[in-house]
Amino acid sequence: MKPTIATADAIERAAELLRRGRLVAFPTETVYGLGADASDPDAVAGIFKAKGRPATHPLIVHIGDVASLYDWAGTVPEAALKLAERFWPGPLAMILPKKPEVPLAVTGGQPTVGLRMPNHPVALALLKSFGGGIAAPSANRFCRISPTQALHVSDELGDAVDMILDGGACQVGVESTIVDLSGSRPRLLRPGHISREEIEAVLQTELLLPENAAPAPEMSDEVRAPGMMAVHYAPTTPAMRCPAEQLAARIRQLIADGKKIGLLSYQLDVAETAQIRVLRLPEHAADYAQSLYAALRDLDNLQLDTILIEQPPQTEAWRAVNDRLGKASASSATAPCVALPPASMQSC
Ligand code: TXA
Ligand code: MG
Repeated sequence: MKPTIATADAIERAAELLRRGRLVAFPTETVYGLGADASDPDAVAGIFKAKGRPATHPLIVHIGDVASLYDWAGTVPEAALKLAERFWPGPLAMILPKKPEVPLAVTGGQPTVGLRMPNHPVALALLKSFGGGIAAPSANRFCRISPTQALHVSDELGDAVDMILDGGACQVGVESTIVDLSGSRPRLLRPGHISREEIEAVLQTELLLPENAAPAPEMSDEVRAPGMMAVHYAPTTPAMRCPAEQLAARIRQLIADGKKIGLLSYQLDVAETAQIRVLRLPEHAADYAQSLYAALRDLDNLQLDTILIEQPPQTEAWRAVNDRLGKASASSATAPCVALPPASMQSC
């Protein structure tokens, strides 16, 4: 399936496809989404099939305005309204108790629903023309890198999708921040462009964090927010994060072993040779995030033996990036190179 430039006419056709229960990939400011009518369980089942995603993993419902919160959430706490007022449209998803009529197919069988108003003109026009909620996970196959360009979607999903709206490269580049407001205390489920501090400033309270919050007893963390699994964003080429001071030695060793290397650096200057391809990402966390997935995809397509990733700083500003680079090993800046789980060992 080739992408279609998102003209007004194309957006109308996409909305019509959604009304007929079909799948439409569309751009948001974070990543491309694979959309279906959120009120139609059969259409939603199509998303899980196209992605190869287990049916227990819940989807985010995209809405076109704040008032639509009341169409999907059984209760809308003051905190949700405050966050929506400050950050919507924008890269923040909120988990709220669902209304009884929200299909369990959307929520992975859970009593809560994820909601987000995206900040992208094409997504907003599609929502307006469609008139309802659009369930949309990232438009990649399960456990693969999220797409940040329309061509990534066609590479990943081919003809499993009925239309791909092309709205250019996504500006944020990593998935939305997710805050769970369904419990007694707000909890950060997935870090993103909107930081923990920004949310805490609006709510005037500290967020429970993924690493120190007790999971809800009735469900595993993996099912509550599978996007947080360490293996979720891995390329197929074995990838390894390395502190800057250890990179030179690691490169020498791999070259001596005859390996072809892709290096994703952000500060280090390394010359390219026949054996090493270098992609340098920006030094600013938000800009780095914007280009990260496309860079990983590019390196992944080069048939290399290893991708080395220069470890970015482990500060709050880099939380979302470090999370995507491998949650399991993100805590140790001083550790030697840390391998990301190879695709063959993925458990998701
Ligand atoms: O930026 C984004 O959020 C993108 C764009 C397309 O909007 N969407 C996205 O969807 O990243 P997805 O499905 O790839 O990731 C959504 C995450 C999943 O980890 C899912 O488990 C979690 O949101 N989620 C959705 N509904 C939930 C719920 N009711 N309770 C807990 N987690 C939920
Ligand atoms: Mg995803």
